[in-house]
Order: sequence, then structure tokens, then C-alpha cells
Amino acid sequence: MKGVILAGGTGSRLHPLTRITNKHLLPIYDRPMVTYAIEACVQAGITQVMVVTGGTHAGEFLRLLGNGHEYGIDRLFYAYQERPGGIAEALGLAHRFVDGDRVVVILGDNIVEHSIRPCVERFERQSKGARVVLAETPEVEHLRHLGVPEFDGDRRIKRILEKPKDPPSHYGVTGIYFYPAEVFDVIGRLEPSGRGELEITDVNNWFITQGTMEYDVLTGFWGDAGESIDAYYAVNDFVRQHGANKPAAVTPA
Ligand code: DAU
Repeated sequence: MKGVILAGGTGSRLHPLTRITNKHLLPIYDRPMVTYAIEACVQAGITQVMVVTGGTHAGEFLRLLGNGHEYGIDRLFYAYQERPGGIAEALGLAHRFVDGDRVVVILGDNIVEHSIRPCVERFERQSKGARVVLAETPEVEHLRHLGVPEFDGDRRIKRILEKPKDPPSHYGVTGIYFYPAEVFDVIGRLEPSGRGELEITDVNNWFITQGTMEYDVLTGFWGDAGESIDAYYAVNDFVRQHGANKPAAVTPA
């Protein structure tokens, strides 16, 4: 399985900090944000990784990560996204790198307390389709900034709503996704959303309509450090106190 870490976008919610650097290079406790996603991959046994970035500070990723060996990466690749055309567009740039394999995608601003290894292992056993990772999210206001799943009576995901006004459940879709190689055909057929982006939620809803979407529910802390300056500091505080990517379990769906 390959790993793709998405670290492009404008980071506008963290302006003015992100006028002078890329969001994923900002510190989380004692090291740059993107290194947590790298660590999550390596710990889950994924050592062929592509970092997709963009903007004016892309070169700094090379300075930080180099060939990746210091971080336990076997082969590290880079892609450059010309403009922030959406998460799915950024993933599309990894088509040739993934090369028919399966892929775990991690948004570079997502930080988890517990290792994603159990999710990777479940996806390895999954015969077809895709997999998302959910986090229980009690606050309705928070859910309004996320992808939120709606479940049917059998607790299968019926659809995912992106940033819904009326969230249909108390779970957020985290920025950790698992796909088969056909995801790149799906991305190729996507139309831009109202905000002009290729949306990962549209990709996920395609797999849901095929009946091949599975999910895990995370245990422990999950944070999107790019969501707001307060979220950024909440993630910093958590990681400083408790660490991240620690071995632990996820609850089977
Ligand atoms: O964090 C989880 C949430 O991430 C999900 O619940 C949502 O369903 C999903 O759409 C996404 O929402 P965000 O509003 O947080 O997405 P954002 O635009 O902040 O992008 C998230 C990451 O993706 C960010 O770390 C950089 C990367 N990205 C984003 C865009 C738009 C790119 O690499 N290229 C892009 O063009």
C-alpha cells in the first residue's frame, strides 16, 4: 500500500501565519505538522509516500524531509499542485505514483492520538472498495465544518454531507481515507463543486453508492489543526501533553 499526504491549499483560516509559510510546516509541539502524518504512515508500515504540496513554500518540504530516510521512509516522492483545486484534485496528482496499488491518504493537518495501523490492517483485509475513518464529535457547531455521515438502519453509511447546516449524526469524517486504484477513475469523472474544488466527499459518496464503503471509528483524540487558530492551539496542547500516533486500538465498525 502507498501513502499520500496532502499538504497544499491556502491555509487561509490560519492567516496571517500562513502568509509566510505553508500551514503544514507550522509547529505542533516540537516539530512541523507534516511530520506527524509521515510518522502515522511509517508506523502503519507504509514506507512509500508522496507528499503533495503547492504555493510558494513548497521547497521547504524538501529541506525538512529530504529523501525521507531519517523519518523511516523508504522512498519519498513529491508532487506540486499548481492551484488549490481541492483535496480530490491534489490526490489525482498521485495517480502515477500509486500505479495500480491501494493507497492511504492523510490530510497533512490531521493529527491522531492513536496509531492508524489497525485501520490499515482492516483495509488490507477488505476485498474491495474504500474506507473512511470517523471520529465521534459531540459538538454540532464543529460538525458543521466537517464531512458528516448519515447512517441507515444497519449502521452503514448512506451518504456523507460536506459541512452540513443540520448534521445527520455525531460523527465527523476525518482526513484519513483508504482507496483502491480505481479512485483515480472516479476523480477523473468529478465535476468541480460550487466552491470550484474537486471534493473528496464526492469521491466518498461514489463508493457509498457502489455499496463498497466501509469505516472505522477512531479511539482517542483527533484534531484538524488547520480548522481555526483555536483548533491549532488545542491540537498543540493535546500533543504536548499526550503525544500522537501512539499504539492503540480502533473500535471495529
Ligand atoms: O479534516 C477533516 C475534514 O477535511 C473533513 O471532515 C472534510 O470532509 C474534508 O472536506 C476536509 O475539510 P477541510 O475544510 O478541513 O479541508 P481543507 O480545505 O482545509 O483541506 C484539508 C487539507 O487538504 C489541507 O491540510 C491541505 C489539503 N489540500 C486542500 C486543498 C483544498 C490540498 O492539498 N490541496 C487543496 O487544493
